[in-house]
Amino acid sequence: KPDGVLAGLRVLITAGPTREALDPVRFLTNRSSGKMGFALAAACQAAGAQVELIAGPVNLPTPIGVRRYNVESAQQMLDKANERVGKAQILIATAAVADYRPRAVQDDKIKKSSDSIALELEKTPDILGELSRRETHLFTVGFAAETRELERYARAKMQRKNLDMICANEVGPGQGFDVDENALLVFWPGGQQQLGPRHKRALAGELVDLIATRYATGDEH
Ligand code: C5P
Repeated sequence: KPDGVLAGLRVLITAGPTREALDPVRFLTNRSSGKMGFALAAACQAAGAQVELIAGPVNLPTPIGVRRYNVESAQQMLDKANERVGKAQILIATAAVADYRPRAVQDDKIKKSSDSIALELEKTPDILGELSRRETHLFTVGFAAETRELERYARAKMQRKNLDMICANEVGPGQGFDVDENALLVFWPGGQQQLGPRHKRALAGELVDLIATRYATGDEH
């Protein structure tokens, strides 16, 4: 039996961006590298958890001992999360899921003709929100990338999505996305703690310790 602060627990993690197809050769996506999610997967595994990682398209090796599922779209990420969440006690949603997707995916490549064309977008499913509202036993951790009013937006998001914890980081040029260092302001219903700025790997270890502590003190599962 493994030891560590998450020994005996199953953790499900979403990571990376999603890709929302426009036609067979084009898609909408974002700058998420997946680094924070992959570092958390490795840290949870090192802390004794059984870890499953649902990853959007990223260029990262799978941490040793982690079971990885590759997906592309938000819908595929939701379907896989629904399939895997049953046995998990903890869900950590680091994925930068696209907020909108093209309303219709064209079967054929969109041809260049008019000088301008309009794209109609529709909302993607809220993976973390859906799971946390339905799976009441689950300890849910969300991320919030904000450019301003970190605490207010993060706490509102935690309430709206019914989360046990939310990790906020400021994003902008050279911050948060696609860099190796990160700093987090972590909030839970009764408190908060600043972690970092540190390398994402070291930060992941500290966050896992905090998640384990909050999970152990919580009474909702
Ligand atoms: O809704 P928003 O993107 O601001 O919230 C961010 C948090 O919600 C992150 O933890 C992210 O992984 C998760 N999320 C999700 N599905 C979405 C949008 C965000 O799981 N469609």
